[in-house]
Amino acid sequence: MTSVGIDAIEIWTGKLKLDLPGTFAPAKGEDPEKYTKGLGLYASSLPDSYEDIVTMGANACKRLMERKGLTPEDVGRIDVATESAFDNSKPVSTYIAGCLEQVFDGDFRYANKGERKFACVAGTQSIDDAYNWIRAGRNRDRGALVVATDTALYERGDSGEATQGAGAVAMYISEDPDLVELSPEQGYGSMDETDFLKPNQQFPSVDGKRSIQVYLARMREAVEDYESVGGDLHPDDFELLPFHTPFPGMVRRAASLAYRHTIRDTSIEEDLADEIGRQPRPEAFDSEDEYLDAMGEYTERLVETDTYGEWYDRVVEPTLDLSREVGNWYTGSVHVARASGLQHALENDWDLTGKRLAVASYGSGAQAEVHTEVVQPGWKEEIAHLNVLEQLERRYDLAFEEYGKIHDTHNHDTDTDVEPMTTPEGEFVFDGWGRMGERKYTYVE
Ligand code: CAA
Repeated sequence: MTSVGIDAIEIWTGKLKLDLPGTFAPAKGEDPEKYTKGLGLYASSLPDSYEDIVTMGANACKRLMERKGLTPEDVGRIDVATESAFDNSKPVSTYIAGCLEQVFDGDFRYANKGERKFACVAGTQSIDDAYNWIRAGRNRDRGALVVATDTALYERGDSGEATQGAGAVAMYISEDPDLVELSPEQGYGSMDETDFLKPNQQFPSVDGKRSIQVYLARMREAVEDYESVGGDLHPDDFELLPFHTPFPGMVRRAASLAYRHTIRDTSIEEDLADEIGRQPRPEAFDSEDEYLDAMGEYTERLVETDTYGEWYDRVVEPTLDLSREVGNWYTGSVHVARASGLQHALENDWDLTGKRLAVASYGSGAQAEVHTEVVQPGWKEEIAHLNVLEQLERRYDLAFEEYGKIHDTHNHDTDTDVEPMTTPEGEFVFDGWGRMGERKYTYVE
């Protein structure tokens, strides 16, 4: 069977930084540890006044195409996944193609372009679309550009404001990929939910506490659905477990449930039995509530064990390094988590070739998706090219008043203009409005 997967990845962060414990928490009169310890977040990346989902996506694509020596003719699809689109008809991929055509010879005339929407899971769904297109033999030796790009802003004062972020992840999906091969097996957990939505409005309506429960419920179903086709998952089967990461505290919860599920009826559960008992089984209880209470208590004991702590520190914690510094990038978030884990593996000289990752995506509304990936021999070279840490270093550190102005600038309902806080160089910038209300972009040398 043809090997299909992610050949290359590039990350572009918004150029501004909001320091959550240092700037945001004091201004809101909150304890900084709510951010660092509770949510697990240190900073949000935010877009400067000349940045948006198009500039960040196009800048990530440009870096990727140049590095891989790709021309527009090598690209048969451009799919953009976003929750931050500004046009209900013309897809963001056309704007991004227009940007790239300003700097590359040739054009994307014969590439199929689209826009995918299902909250944060749409980036993974776009990879699926590319995978299926290649597997169906419709790609004519070309690959697909998948761009997950979002300005994840919440209304000022909303509890979600703590988890904001902005950035883009560009990925090239091809045959014989250099980074990871995707499993044909997938699992889904999908239900009609109203936990987080944007009914024709820019900022989301969020039921934060419920969204956490829905994330966990759909994720459990996706794992079970995956196992029905891919066989039982065992915690030692995969080296990294990148989750959709709205904030690292969410992943901390999801990981404990994933571990509990995957050790059930294994030697790990038996080995832990002396220390914390065996997992409760529903048939031993008179009511579901009693069973769930017992499960909750077992999980509390489980996460305190060295066995769990070692697994979590090795397999999950490395996937959160970038997220702690950038916040939620919605569609890009799980792909940032994968890159973060692989970057940690490279820095620590792990031998990952041929090893597996389990990848857990999630979108509100709601749908979770689980698949596995096999790391390819070219992974080190691919990850070594990422310059995301330098980008994070270069971000402009916002004062609280500046943050307010930049939030207003990106608010479609206000007419605020602020001077950029950074100077664009060698990148696409938003350059005003065209005669039909379209957004215009220029490349700045
Ligand atoms: N020291 C240590 N920890 C502290 C603390 C302190 N001083 N103060 C608070 N905390 C802890 C709290 O105990 C809590 O941790 P636990 O949940 O483990 O108990 C954590 O910090 C957050 O505190 P709160 O629950 O009080 O925070 P909040 O009410 O401001 O809301 C939130 C948190 C609901 C996640 C909110 O940020 C939100 O609505 N976010 C947007 C929705 C979201 O991200 N949902 C996630 C699932 S949906 C999804 O994944 C899709 C998506 O991308 C949006």
